Amino acid sequence: MDFPVFHLDVLGNRGLIAGIAVLHVLINHGLAVGLMPLVACMEWYGHRKRDARWDALAYRILFCAFIVTTTAGALTGVGIWLSVSLVNPYSIGSLLRVFFWAWFVEWLVFITEVCLILAYTLTWKTWREGAAKRRHIRLGFALGLFSWITMAIIVSILGFMMDPGNWLADNTLFSGFTNPVYLPQLAFRTPLAATMAGVIALVLVPFFVGRDDPFRREAIRAVAVWTLLFCPFIVAGGYWYYGAVPEAMKDNLAVSVLTLQFSGWLDEFLLLVVGTAIAIVVVVQVAIVRPGLVPRTALVLPLLAILWLTAHFERVREFIRKPYVIGRYMYANGLRVDDYALLRRDGLLAYATYSNPLTPAEQASVPAALPPAERAAALDRLQKGKDVFMNACSRCHTTHGVNGVADHLHRMFGNRVWTPDLTGDYLANMHNAQPYMPPFPGSQAELGFLSTYLEQLQANREPVPGAQQAGITVRPESGSKLAVGERR
Ligand code: HEC
Repeated sequence: MDFPVFHLDVLGNRGLIAGIAVLHVLINHGLAVGLMPLVACMEWYGHRKRDARWDALAYRILFCAFIVTTTAGALTGVGIWLSVSLVNPYSIGSLLRVFFWAWFVEWLVFITEVCLILAYTLTWKTWREGAAKRRHIRLGFALGLFSWITMAIIVSILGFMMDPGNWLADNTLFSGFTNPVYLPQLAFRTPLAATMAGVIALVLVPFFVGRDDPFRREAIRAVAVWTLLFCPFIVAGGYWYYGAVPEAMKDNLAVSVLTLQFSGWLDEFLLLVVGTAIAIVVVVQVAIVRPGLVPRTALVLPLLAILWLTAHFERVREFIRKPYVIGRYMYANGLRVDDYALLRRDGLLAYATYSNPLTPAEQASVPAALPPAERAAALDRLQKGKDVFMNACSRCHTTHGVNGVADHLHRMFGNRVWTPDLTGDYLANMHNAQPYMPPFPGSQAELGFLSTYLEQLQANREPVPGAQQAGITVRPESGSKLAVGERR
């Protein structure tokens, strides 16, 4: 069966990773890093005040988090690995080599976290009194700490991808880990996670405490205070973080935030963001002062708003470091900056491992009436053009789907025939025209092949099927010259 929406060519490689990764971040920050300390605080407070209602509420909130983090949370965590290593194996390979020991520790921490959440949830009903209860509360805080450590390790890798700092000079894990973006980003994400957890808990409380129960107001007020407490730290952390983003990348801000098409609306959009943030604060503030006043549905608004803001922040963070996947080291097409001279000399395809066979629609663009030898040569050029497109462009572009290159060409050249003469100059200079695109990586001849391939996209509007449907072949001449192992 064929689900057109799930064609990689419609969703795009970036869409695949983004969908999985953003969901994971929302679960990780909101339900683990931020929520575990909040739950532990509730349990501790209830124990101190000898008020079993806090205990019951904390347990129910924990149970929700337990279900979601151990299912969707764990699945999307693995899903990031799967999608990223499919789409950009070279970048993940480089990151693995640099961060090997960090990741090693991260897995131990993660497994500890899983054991702790199991223990914390499952012993809640049995470790009830005296020393056992105190031990149980400590377990909760330990769980919060370990959730935070997993995030603290991964954040260094995210920072590294934006600006590897001294690592480019000395190649040590230490320099990579302590990259210039690391601490600022951690200072931003930590309070963000706490606030997000508060906003989630605000939605959950009314489910677990009846409308007429006076405890409902008390709980909403306490959770709202927690939520508001961290907001100033988000602003301060965000300010520090923004200051650490390399200047050249800030030029990408408008397109990062709004895509090329809407990039002129940056100011309006930023106003919208500020307005949304203020709206969150207002609802939370009202929840503190008059918890009885806010209807249940109003409590959902801050949640939707913060989910949207966080998802959008992740998009911008991913986009803004373009044209690189690892700052100044590897372009987003998976090619190392240092390899460019070689690729320009020998051609990109000399080192490409796979080839994506032409679809019937693509083949049909070569007139059947040509003499056989000419037709074979034309098909060969088209095949090479497609392979160049797949290697150099398809990590960011589809042909006709999300960020489709045909739409771009149409916008730029309209209905003029997209001959190589027309498009070639642009392709040779595309990194100057749009600094978030890497320079063209191949030889002059390959630039010609690519233009030929792009030309047939004008008439052929059929999306290119993903390799899972169309298959790929291994290029016979590949693999010999630049062994994968030679890449750092
Ligand atoms: C690092 C990711 C990336 C790579 C690799 C990349 N592009 Fe782009 N390209 C973009 C983005 C992002 C846009 C702007 C999309 C938007 O916001 O509308 C763009 C825009 C374009 C445009 C329209 C530009 C304009 O000035 O309006 C063309 C044409 C284009 N790309 C062609 C290509 C071709 C051909 C390749 C391969 C040789 C390629 N791109 C490789 C990310 C990339």
